[in-house]
Amino acid sequence: MTADLDSLASAALTELASVSDITGLESWRIAYLGAKGKIRAAMASVKAVAIADRPAFGARINALRDQLDAAFEARRAEFGGAAATVAAGPAPDVTEPGRVWSETIGRRHVITRVREELCEVFARMGFETAEGPELEDDEHNFVKLNIPPHHPAREPSDNFYVDDPLRSARPRMLRSQTSTVQIRVMETRKPPIRIVAPGRVYRPDTVDATHSFMFHQIEGLCIDRGVSMADLKSTLFHFARAYFGADAEVRLRPSFFPFTEPSAEFDMKIRLRPDQPERWMELGGCGMVHPSVLEGCGIDPEAWTGFAFGFGIERLAMGKYSIPDIRMLFENDVRFLSQL
Ligand code: DAH
Repeated sequence: MTADLDSLASAALTELASVSDITGLESWRIAYLGAKGKIRAAMASVKAVAIADRPAFGARINALRDQLDAAFEARRAEFGGAAATVAAGPAPDVTEPGRVWSETIGRRHVITRVREELCEVFARMGFETAEGPELEDDEHNFVKLNIPPHHPAREPSDNFYVDDPLRSARPRMLRSQTSTVQIRVMETRKPPIRIVAPGRVYRPDTVDATHSFMFHQIEGLCIDRGVSMADLKSTLFHFARAYFGADAEVRLRPSFFPFTEPSAEFDMKIRLRPDQPERWMELGGCGMVHPSVLEGCGIDPEAWTGFAFGFGIERLAMGKYSIPDIRMLFENDVRFLSQL
């Protein structure tokens, strides 16, 4: 047996000495040191050795394997080491185009992010976030907001009614404003109240650079004892500077809404294109909650006062990121969205 190992050793070393390239070296390794090679086969033959001789046989064969391993490594080093073995396949084609990584990392839509940022800014001012349904009824969209039956805002051509407003006592509709959430919150909570309510609203407007049939608003409502127009103004101005920066230029302009008295429009100076001058852009409406609105929700207007506001989220996003056309926010062109 030991004699067999001796002749195996000398054959292996002779053959290894005559190997002339990396491919030959690899064939030699497979033949002698591989999983089905001669060393393994010799190890398996231990069963034929007398039990008493087995330890000596095992030691001898281990020594032989180590000797061949070392001899193999020595020759491999001559051919350029491990790297040469790995690179032994076909040579790389250096004229091939580079590998293109087409997997881009996804991101949330800019409107989603702006909505969250707005809620965060208002949260720092003590406003909780509230929600209401998109499928509403005219009670919450109009009646309780002090918008009387024949008001032009209720025209079927200006709203997405789900039920026929002439036949149904309480027609359902897609809400046209998030002011509905003011009513829903006041119906279910006692003041003091401080909420913002972001969400989708729907109006059959003709689509252009600043209008869409679906867009987002963020509504705000603050009701407490002694709340005044000065609180409204300072809250909105503070918000504008917190969200747009210390140099944000904003103004309130007298206006009219049935559910606030007095009412105002909130404008901000915005540059939508680098090549155009700044312009005043209307961000939304606001005012002091009308006493009848408070009363209709069971809140005593002698004891409590409040302010409310409603801004278009797309307008805010367009101002923040200088987006010149609202349609860009809904076309979902990844080349545009990935810049934001
Ligand atoms: N809901 C109004 C709109 O969609 C905006 C608005 C105006 C909301 C005044 C308010 C407010 O809360 O007080 O045009």
